[in-house]
Amino acid sequence: MNTRRFDFAPDFVWGVATSSYQIEGAAAEDGKGLGNWDAFCDRPSAIYEGHRGDAGADHYRRLGDDLDLIAALGVGAYRFSVSWPRILPEARGTPNEKGLDFYDRLVDGLLARGVTPYLTLFHWDAPQAFERLGGFRNAESPAWFADFTRVVARRLGDRVRHYFTLNEPHAFIEGGLRHGRHAPGLTLPLPEVLRAAHHALLAHGRSVQVLRAEVKNAWIAMAPVLVSGIPASNTPADVEAARHFTFGQNGDGLRTTAFWTDPAMGRGYPADCLRQFGAHMPKFSPSELDLIAQPLDAFGANLYDAPLVRAGQDGQPEVVPYPPGSPRTAFDWPVTPEAHYWAVKFAYERYGKPIVITENGLSSRDWVGTDGQVRDNERVDFLLRHLSALERASREGIPVLGYFHWSLLDNFEWNHGYRERFGLVFVDFETQKRTPKESYRVYRESIRATRSPRTTD
Ligand code: GCO
Repeated sequence: MNTRRFDFAPDFVWGVATSSYQIEGAAAEDGKGLGNWDAFCDRPSAIYEGHRGDAGADHYRRLGDDLDLIAALGVGAYRFSVSWPRILPEARGTPNEKGLDFYDRLVDGLLARGVTPYLTLFHWDAPQAFERLGGFRNAESPAWFADFTRVVARRLGDRVRHYFTLNEPHAFIEGGLRHGRHAPGLTLPLPEVLRAAHHALLAHGRSVQVLRAEVKNAWIAMAPVLVSGIPASNTPADVEAARHFTFGQNGDGLRTTAFWTDPAMGRGYPADCLRQFGAHMPKFSPSELDLIAQPLDAFGANLYDAPLVRAGQDGQPEVVPYPPGSPRTAFDWPVTPEAHYWAVKFAYERYGKPIVITENGLSSRDWVGTDGQVRDNERVDFLLRHLSALERASREGIPVLGYFHWSLLDNFEWNHGYRERFGLVFVDFETQKRTPKESYRVYRESIRATRSPRTTD
């Protein structure tokens, strides 16, 4: 079996990640309120082939089996998210006890198996009632999110110490409010989108304040996408161009790094973002920037792929295409493990915070063979290459705290439905039968080998 022993710090956190709406199912069970993605799935042609997230991977009903899969994988940590509509069906007000009971069982089950829970508060799974109130467009949304955080922290904070506030804010803000590809499926003018983005960052800050107040010794980060560039060569000019690309505002999109991470890390909105968006940006005060910049314990990053970048004539970053035939995933994303060195290096240089990879993975066209095995060779190779690149960063002294592979289970890939399989475990969505893939075994054995004391040194 193709496994490896890696050279990470002894307390390196090996993890695996999921999110509530993508796996739980039970969309209307035990008092859960209508969610924004439940409603979005009702919209004709919103989701690939009309797939729906109602069943997901039936995790709500199969919790014990899935906790056993997590424990058998040998990871030290599990990153999951909580469903706001399962806990607060109307977004505010009286919590749904049965919804909270589910997360009690989840957390207790992890702890009983020696796995540390890492809880994401918002992984896009909002109550439809929240959207009806205007969602993050409403200036009250940071307060509502703070209240939701408080309900979660007061119920689980005695056992959960690790939190991520927002997952990929660019996706739910731009995808949901500008491009209409994500719930709630709106296509609003840029000023409204940017105002919602600012409210989402304020919500992040308010959430951190609540966690600091409610959870003893809380460890908190955010989980933005780390959009980065890989130097086309090791020349100082190309490295600087890739660094500049990583934190630059490349165009008028919000799928960027620094628009979100600079304010959260106390640097305010980047100058090139303010130039790019100009009068479309909402008015904001220094005190609001201070609220957003609540101290965090790490720089969390969802890190997938990155373009090659070189220095153009004037030193400005220029994206260069990958050579023809370069490897790509089933989602047609380039396979670029070097980003797990360069992006991590650039992020540490800029923010000086320990780094945790909150997501990394790929989709592949997996199926169960006639012998009952799922030989996902691409994922095996992908995993080992990305961990090797991360190991290089760690060996250079960058504090890499951990790695959460996306994902434990094949799941509902948002507007792409169930087409993209990201799991270490294959899910037959007809029967919900779980089949650990080859990559599950390779990840397990690599974790085991890395943890075992070196026999040679
Ligand atoms: C994201 C989300 C995950 C995705 C995963 C694969 O980054 O889009 O955090 O929910 O499923 O990244 O796209």
